[in-house]
Amino acid sequence: IVATGRGATWERLELTAGVVDRQVAGRVVLPGFVDAHTHLCYAGERWDEFTTRRSGAGYLAVLERGGGIHATVRATRDADDATLLALMRRRLAHAASLGTTTIEVKSGYGLEPDEELRQLRLIARLRDESAIDLAPTYLAAHALPAKHADDRPGFLAEITQAIGVVAEERLAEAVDAFIEKGVFEADELRPFFKEAKARGLAVTAHVDQLNDVGGAAVAARLGARSADHVANASAEGLRALAKAGAVAVLLPGSAFFVGYAPPDARRFLAARVPVAVATDHNPGTSPLEGLPAAIALAVTLCGLTPQEAIVAATVNAAHALGRAARTGALVEGRRADLVILETDDERDLAYRLGAPLVREVYASGRRVAGLEER
Ligand code: NIG
Ligand code: FE
Repeated sequence: IVATGRGATWERLELTAGVVDRQVAGRVVLPGFVDAHTHLCYAGERWDEFTTRRSGAGYLAVLERGGGIHATVRATRDADDATLLALMRRRLAHAASLGTTTIEVKSGYGLEPDEELRQLRLIARLRDESAIDLAPTYLAAHALPAKHADDRPGFLAEITQAIGVVAEERLAEAVDAFIEKGVFEADELRPFFKEAKARGLAVTAHVDQLNDVGGAAVAARLGARSADHVANASAEGLRALAKAGAVAVLLPGSAFFVGYAPPDARRFLAARVPVAVATDHNPGTSPLEGLPAAIALAVTLCGLTPQEAIVAATVNAAHALGRAARTGALVEGRRADLVILETDDERDLAYRLGAPLVREVYASGRRVAGLEER
């Protein structure tokens, strides 16, 4: 972006050769959306679990029985590189067509480090070829693989060791873990997070999604760039996040689909915790695609205003991914990541849930979705 403004500023602009003139009068122009939390590296859908599960308790029970995340791990391991790349390319294209110009993509459906590394290498290939900006994350501690059922310490040692390869090959910018009752405990993950930070990786974590396990405070203590889900975070957890300056990434899609009480965004804003909103796109808890739907749910379920939800899906989400200087706002010097809406009122993003509002999308000044340039 070289300039924004009106009147005189505009007239002084020298429009050189190659400039494309788009008339967008009567349409909202926003910064491209930043999806700060997705799991789009997977194969197989979970229709049965989706249609029979009725609550957050049900979600953990399915996982405990070897379904849920484990079902997707089996399907993803069975998918060869070409299949997985094709699935991810399609999902990235959908995201772009819905206005996403920056996207975080987690591994996490490999569990065993060898398979996690295969998935991270595929994600890195997409990062290198993709028209939109992709931020990969090593979600190492998503569930305990069956092979290690009697050997938690062995698994934790392996994932900690794998960080070395991830850092050397630059396969991820951050590490992530699912800290939840019956999944992973913060204490046992300490060496893992310590190693990640020593290797220069950022830390983020799934915390307090279904139960308050004190995860928000743990994330704050770790200097995490964000604490994600946080639907059940305690007041103490919120105070810790505010003090640490960590972003709370709210994921209303998973509350909606799994059927647990969504995070109350007003609590976070009152505690002065910056709030981002993301899709959490994954086959288990949130098959949601695109930020417009996440924005609508953040308003109706979490209590943000439409404008706050847009801030949460752009500039605050850029902060959560360490990209605040690069994108998230229409100001000089940022990448020209733009969404043009087929409406003159931005509140429509929350109001007209499901409506095809995204008309054109530009990433770094290049059209990535929507109308043909004429
Ligand atoms: O963000 N809760 C942990 N991880 C994902 C869901 C993974 C799955 O069920 O496949 C989430 O909700
Ligand atoms: Fe998630």
